[in-house]
Amino acid sequence: MRKLSDGFRARRTFQILGNKTKSLRVIGVNSGTSCDGLDLALVEFAPDKLPRLLFSKTYSYPREIRESLLSADDPGLIDGEHWMRLDSELGKLTGKLISGFLSIIKKRRLTPDLIASHGHTIRHLPGKKSASFTLQIGDPAQMAEITGLAVISDFRKSDIAAGGQGAPLSPLLHQKLFRSQTRFRAVVNIGGIANITVLPPARSRIKPFAADCGPGNMVIDGAMKILYGRQYDKNGETAARGDADKKAVNQVVRLKFFKSPPPKSTGRERFGNRFVEKVLDKCNEYRPEDIIATISEITVRAIADFISRYAPKTEELYLCGGGAGTKFIVQRLNNLLRGIDILSTSDLGYDPDYIEAMLWAYLGHCFIVGTRIDSSRFTGAKKTYIPGKLCLP
Ligand SMILES: Nc1ncnc2c1ncn2[C@@H]1O[C@H](COP(=O)(O)OP(=O)(O)O)[C@@H](O)[C@H]1O
Ligand SMILES: [Mg+2]
Repeated sequence: MRKLSDGFRARRTFQILGNKTKSLRVIGVNSGTSCDGLDLALVEFAPDKLPRLLFSKTYSYPREIRESLLSADDPGLIDGEHWMRLDSELGKLTGKLISGFLSIIKKRRLTPDLIASHGHTIRHLPGKKSASFTLQIGDPAQMAEITGLAVISDFRKSDIAAGGQGAPLSPLLHQKLFRSQTRFRAVVNIGGIANITVLPPARSRIKPFAADCGPGNMVIDGAMKILYGRQYDKNGETAARGDADKKAVNQVVRLKFFKSPPPKSTGRERFGNRFVEKVLDKCNEYRPEDIIATISEITVRAIADFISRYAPKTEELYLCGGGAGTKFIVQRLNNLLRGIDILSTSDLGYDPDYIEAMLWAYLGHCFIVGTRIDSSRFTGAKKTYIPGKLCLP
């Protein structure tokens, strides 16, 4: 990679920073709590237009990295040295994968201006009254060095510094892309965790709000690994073969987290391995497919209960994230939420697998053009803020 002179680097960045009217192309980089891989999305931001996804690709993580991330995520294990090594290793790997992505988009004559990376969350400790803490790894300095592009990162810490919980942030993009003038909509991102954004019509006096509503695929993936040695339940086929134990599901969705009002956020600390083991202990006499059906039903009920409790006027529910394509989940939501259209964000022209990566691109763009973010209704932030930190190559 050709080294740019310091003067050129600074000039280039300030040129971008100073020119708010120019179109910008940002590579959004997402590593979700599922630890399945890295999502890259090249997004164009043109003045007075909605963000547009130009090209996207997911790179599955090599098994060792996936295992390392999963072990770093384990709330029972605090190993500073492991985290430091992984921070650097993941930064380098991400840089290399982005370089491959750059070669592909170059052939399509697409040139990015910068990178916006979420990193990988290894701890997320939201505090309702006290301070919140969050830690994303995947060193942006390594990415900038390897790719030769500026990298904006650490968006959640900006939110926490402004008094918020640091999550969920995806509602910031959901409200921009998906709010209707006339219809009551909600968007659910089913990743490792399921988060929901409630979008009353733009003309209504009710403002959008959001929350993490419970586990998405995290518990299903954890149980599939223990019971079947598989990474996930493809299309929900195992769950569809089983019978969910309604009583066990009811016991779980009665827990305090599910009932507490928004804003709220959560992570692997609550729904990680320990939670999976507890559920498996309770269900140890069931057939494996019944366990998977029961766990999948917890995801579905958490979403449906949230809507019934906090957004009963919802007319259209748009799904995105890896779980959005799971037939079992879509069917059960259809059964539980009669009268609500269960759709995909692709019905509104946005690929459900890249909404999160687009979000980081959007926040990176906000950083560059100096747009202040108001996430108060989503994360509880007390002030507006410019999201992220800059790392130059
Ligand atoms: N065909 C599929 N059938 C069922 N589940 C799937 C399928 N494809 C992906 N998934 C689920 O989606 C998860 C990845 O979703 P993703 O949105 O990337 O989550 P995260 O943001 O947490 O990484 C996988 O771990 C898996 O559980
Ligand atoms: Mg993912």
